[in-house]
Amino acid sequence: MKKIAVLVSGGGTNLQALIDAQGRGEIVNGEISIVISSAPEVYALERAKNAGIPSCVLDRKKYPSSQSMTVALVDKLKSLSIDVVVMAGFMTIVTKELFEVYDNAVINIHPALIPSFCGKGAYGLHVHEQALAYGVKVSGATVHFVNEECDGGPIILQKAVDILPDDTPETLQRRIMEQCEWKLLPQAVSLFCQDRLRVEGRTVRILP
Ligand code: GAR
Repeated sequence: MKKIAVLVSGGGTNLQALIDAQGRGEIVNGEISIVISSAPEVYALERAKNAGIPSCVLDRKKYPSSQSMTVALVDKLKSLSIDVVVMAGFMTIVTKELFEVYDNAVINIHPALIPSFCGKGAYGLHVHEQALAYGVKVSGATVHFVNEECDGGPIILQKAVDILPDDTPETLQRRIMEQCEWKLLPQAVSLFCQDRLRVEGRTVRILP
């Protein structure tokens, strides 16, 4: 059974999707061992508590740099023998110290079809504002491995939705969460826990 750490910074609806999938037995060979938040008093921590999952806070504001926070994070993950790290709305930059230990074992969900609307400044509602301002006809979500390049790691799963004529950033965000993110993230984590993801260069092969 692989031990999963879920990293959060906010409302935690993607964490909830993982908790619900776990409850339905859909995270095969994996178990959420800890929820780690980059900020105190976020609703995601309440969700962990309600599900009986241990949690802790590594408050980004209390660390002088991204690197010092990453080092603390890696210490925590190692002390719990975590196998896979899932960023579920984690809004903090991490540095190479994480990937030195967790190579192709950190998974992120991004609310757009990478390589569109990603990278620095593309997070949360901003992503959907950018997609609507550009006038694209489809957007969606991407689950990918995390490496040193922001939103640049190998893509595991993607799903698209149509943009509707009267979409606002909020309606688009909600539709992408419901139709893409909350399905793709548990699916990708389950595939990882079953050792069914093989990274070949930029391509992730899904084994039967
Ligand atoms: C989600 O839409 C997630 O894809 C996005 O933030 C939201 C967090 O919501 N992540 C990013 O933008 C990362 N670049 P949640 O806390 O309810 O899961």
